[in-house]
Amino acid sequence: MISLQKLGATVGAEVLGVDRDRFVHDEDLPSACLQALEDNGVLVFRGVHLDDQTQVAFCNRLGDIHRFPTHPIPEISIVSLDPSKSAVAEYLKGTFDWHIDGTTDEVPNMATVLSAHALAEDGGQTEFASTYAAYDLLSPDEQQRYGSLRVLHSFEAHQRRLNPNPSPEVEADWATRPKREHPLVWRHRSGRCSLVLGATASHVVGWDIAPGQKLLEDLLARATAGDRVYRHEWSLGDTVIWDNRGVLHRVCPYDPTSPREMHRTTILGDEAIA
Ligand code: SIN
Repeated sequence: MISLQKLGATVGAEVLGVDRDRFVHDEDLPSACLQALEDNGVLVFRGVHLDDQTQVAFCNRLGDIHRFPTHPIPEISIVSLDPSKSAVAEYLKGTFDWHIDGTTDEVPNMATVLSAHALAEDGGQTEFASTYAAYDLLSPDEQQRYGSLRVLHSFEAHQRRLNPNPSPEVEADWATRPKREHPLVWRHRSGRCSLVLGATASHVVGWDIAPGQKLLEDLLARATAGDRVYRHEWSLGDTVIWDNRGVLHRVCPYDPTSPREMHRTTILGDEAIA
C-alpha cells in the first residue's frame, strides 16, 4: 500500500511516507509503484537519499535494467553537463527539449528513475506532460483524423533543433544515425491511447514536410501547455520515476558549469509502439 498526493491535473503524484528503508525492505513497494506509475505517469519521492546500490536493487524489482558495460556501476548513468562526469555531456543538452526516450529504438524504455545528487543553482527543474492526456484532450474528430497518421522519428531531427546550421560532416554523421517510423497514436496493450511526439518527431510520413511539422509542433504545444505540465523543483535526495511510455519530459536549461548531477537508471520496455 502506498499513499499518494496528486501533483498535477493530468500527471504526477507524490508518494508519501516512503523512506530509504522501505525501498530496501518493502516487498510490495515495486508492484504498488508500477500501478501508481500507470495511473499517474510520474512518481515523486522527496528526500529519500537513495544510494546507487539501493536504487539499482529497487529498479531490479521494477523490471529489466539497461546496463552500460563501460560505466563504473553499469546500471547507473550520471546525468551531468560536465564532460569529466559524463561522456555524453554535449548530447545531454538535447534533454532541454521535450522528448520521449528511445523513440528510435524498436522498443522504447518503460521507465526512468532519477535521483538528485547535486543541484543546479539556476534552472535544472524537470518537467513532465502526459501523452495519454494529450490524446484524450483531442476532439473526437481529431482523434479520428490523426488516428492513422505515421511519423518519422530520427536522431537527426532532435540534433537539428540544437544545431540548425550543421556542417556537411555533421549532417553526414546524422544521416548514419537511427530513424524509426511510428504511428502518431500509440494504442497500448492496456487499451489506452497516447500521442508519440517530441524532439525526435521529424515529419508526418506521406505529407509535405512543412504542414506535417506544423501539426506535430501544434500537438506538442497543446500537450505541454502550462496546466498540463508538472515541473519538479529538485531538492537533494529526491528520487523521481516516470513512465516513459506515457510521458514527455524535458529539463529546464542550466549552466554547463553547474554542479547538477543526477543518477539515472533505465527500466527496459517490453511493448513496441503500435
Ligand atoms: C533526461 O531527459 O533523461 C534528463 C532529465 C533531467 O536531467 O532532469
